[in-house]
Amino acid sequence: MPIETKLTKLLGIRVPVVQGGMQWVGVPKLVAAVSNAGGLGVITALTQPSPDALRKAIQETRTLTKNNFGVNITLLPSITPPDYEGYARAAVEEGVRIFETAGNNPGPLIKYFKSKGCIVIHKCTTIRHAKSAQRLGVDALSIDGFECAGHPGEEDIGGLVLLARAAQELDIPFIASGGFADGRGLASALALGACGVNMGTRFMCTVESPIHQKIKEKIVASTEQDTVHIFRTLHNTARVYKNAVAQQVVALERRPGGAKFEDVRELVSGQRGRLVYEIGDPDYGIWTAGIVMGLIKDIPTCEELLKRIERETEEAIEGLAKLRVPEAKAKL
Ligand SMILES: Cc1cc2nc3c(=O)[nH]c(=O)nc-3n(C[C@H](O)[C@H](O)[C@H](O)COP(=O)(O)O)c2cc1C
Repeated sequence: MPIETKLTKLLGIRVPVVQGGMQWVGVPKLVAAVSNAGGLGVITALTQPSPDALRKAIQETRTLTKNNFGVNITLLPSITPPDYEGYARAAVEEGVRIFETAGNNPGPLIKYFKSKGCIVIHKCTTIRHAKSAQRLGVDALSIDGFECAGHPGEEDIGGLVLLARAAQELDIPFIASGGFADGRGLASALALGACGVNMGTRFMCTVESPIHQKIKEKIVASTEQDTVHIFRTLHNTARVYKNAVAQQVVALERRPGGAKFEDVRELVSGQRGRLVYEIGDPDYGIWTAGIVMGLIKDIPTCEELLKRIERETEEAIEGLAKLRVPEAKAKL
């Protein structure tokens, strides 16, 4: 029996699971596989070198799935910002109706998408930001706890409290993000008041994920202890895989006098990170991964993964329901 939530109804999907934007990973093949499996696949706009390339990625995804999918636009601190408006316009003109926004100052983008009748899910890491996105008119929020891969913000609030706070404070639906990989996780998110989950690292480690097999195997072999935070001292914290390069960055940040971005620029280069996925060398550069690696034990297809999550969620919910016993029996 499918699980119906506000998210499945809002997005027209079967399983309340979103594949979050992932730089170098959220490409048509994976996006279509997630959507075909009943979740929401999301193309990462900035992985494409230009708005025109994004158009082509959207067209390619359409040839691979008839189901709904979305586009992520991530607003990052940058000296020469990408053409966000161009990417947004290209996606809307190509008929995309679901967007995940993330990062700083999403107001103008949200306003634009809403003026075009699109559904916007804004991803953020604090209740304060969630409430301001709610005021801007987003349809749902994706609440990323401290566990998450990538940018957890600077407040270090774990998902358990953050999601419960979201349930107390928000008036619109929210999904839980950071640390989710299975049906137990989805059932717990639903119990906390979320209407689904957003997953990154788990989808990286699927058959259809475009990264090198050796990196997928590295994720399976890794534990919850294999991530580290870089850029803490630059107030742009990012949870990444704990390899020698990441540890070197942290060492530079911790030296007396600290480090400026210039001092670590070469180590954290996006191109080096991209090559990790291409050549399959986990030590070649910085790459994003979450502590949820500890829960990941295999490399399934997206179809197998989402079927399993559906089944496990049902079992978890039924298992909890069985904890209820008639009053008389409980007293024995
Ligand atoms: C390889 C990778 C790249 C990511 N890139 C982005 C990105 O470009 N934009 C974004 O909003 N989130 C990005 N994220 C974060 C995910 O969308 C998601 O919020 C996060 O992975 C959730 O935590 P989890 O990995 O524990 O599921 C990335 C995550 C991973 C694993």
